[in-house]
Amino acid sequence: MATLGFVGLGAMGSRLARRLLDAGHAVVGYNRTRARAQSLVAAGLRVADSPRAVAEACEVVFSMVMDDRALRAVALGPDGIVAGLSGGSVYVEMSTVSPAVTREIGEAVAARGAAMLDAPVSGSTITVEQGQASFMVGGDPDALERVRPYLLAIGAAVTRVGPLGLAKCMKVASNLTLPVQMLAFSEAVLLAEKSGIAREVAVEALLKSVMASPMVKYRGPFVVGRMPAEAWFSVPKIQKDLQLALDQGRAVGVPLPTTALAHEWLTMARGLGLGDYDFAVVFDVLAWMSGLPGSPKSTGGA
Ligand SMILES: NC(=O)c1ccc[n+]([C@@H]2O[C@H](COP(=O)([O-])OP(=O)(O)OC[C@H]3O[C@@H](n4cnc5c(N)ncnc54)[C@H](OP(=O)(O)O)[C@@H]3O)[C@@H](O)[C@H]2O)c1
Repeated sequence: MATLGFVGLGAMGSRLARRLLDAGHAVVGYNRTRARAQSLVAAGLRVADSPRAVAEACEVVFSMVMDDRALRAVALGPDGIVAGLSGGSVYVEMSTVSPAVTREIGEAVAARGAAMLDAPVSGSTITVEQGQASFMVGGDPDALERVRPYLLAIGAAVTRVGPLGLAKCMKVASNLTLPVQMLAFSEAVLLAEKSGIAREVAVEALLKSVMASPMVKYRGPFVVGRMPAEAWFSVPKIQKDLQLALDQGRAVGVPLPTTALAHEWLTMARGLGLGDYDFAVVFDVLAWMSGLPGSPKSTGGA
């Protein structure tokens, strides 16, 4: 069993690291807010004092942090991951961040004689716990073969999409479809409801129809049951991803009209006080505009 490093032990990172611990690997971890790592200490995690110390202790290091700013903070500088890498190390970066920052860090990693892969995660916290997450991977194929067993200890599938940075492009392309699908689902439910079909019946019919993607199957019930008090994927987090998609679209010359609309729709949700909920509250915004009640929730809501 290997000694592996993990930097960023938030909602996703802690669960990803936990899968590695449960598979029998030794894991050295770091989180900016140290207290957040404590729950994993009981499971065997050794906490290091800096991202650099994590990289110095392991030949393979993973990171999973919020955004471009967070990634720069943990990867660069004298205490960053890159400073602790040695020749032959592999750095696997999993955050949903921009391809440009990923490639910039990749250059610094290569300068140290190490390899970098981008391996963003498809799936939610629950999917990770169930071992059903999948990875899109960009970067050197030999480096991927070295870390493939660890990725498969965490999740169910690995798809190599090309050179470093392209997996982040693929992830952002994939994520833009989530609120767009949810908005289309909301239009269908509310059109049916205001035409005289009970909301529960409309949701049931749609969930049995060909439009019911796995994402719609997960979130469709939110609009008739209780929206989870703790967001599966909050409004600000999905807006970060939509902005990455819009930036990428501008860079390569692909218009993303439904992405832009979904982004604005989520800003409306924040304006209505729904920003802490799951992005499924795109439904509530349209319900409010249609003169219909929003989804049942424990607190707040339009
Ligand atoms: N949640 C999901 O369902 C899901 C699914 C797929 C992908 N993702 C992606 O996974 C990444 C992490 O999301 P999450 O859900 O785990 O969020 P989270 O629970 O808020 O965790 C964010 C992590 O980033 C760290 N961080 C934030 N700003 C930082 C900074 N300036 N310097 C150093 N560390 C910083 C946090 O450290 P602190 O604890 O100190 O704040 C924490 O470890 C995001 O890119 C997200 O888009 C999430």
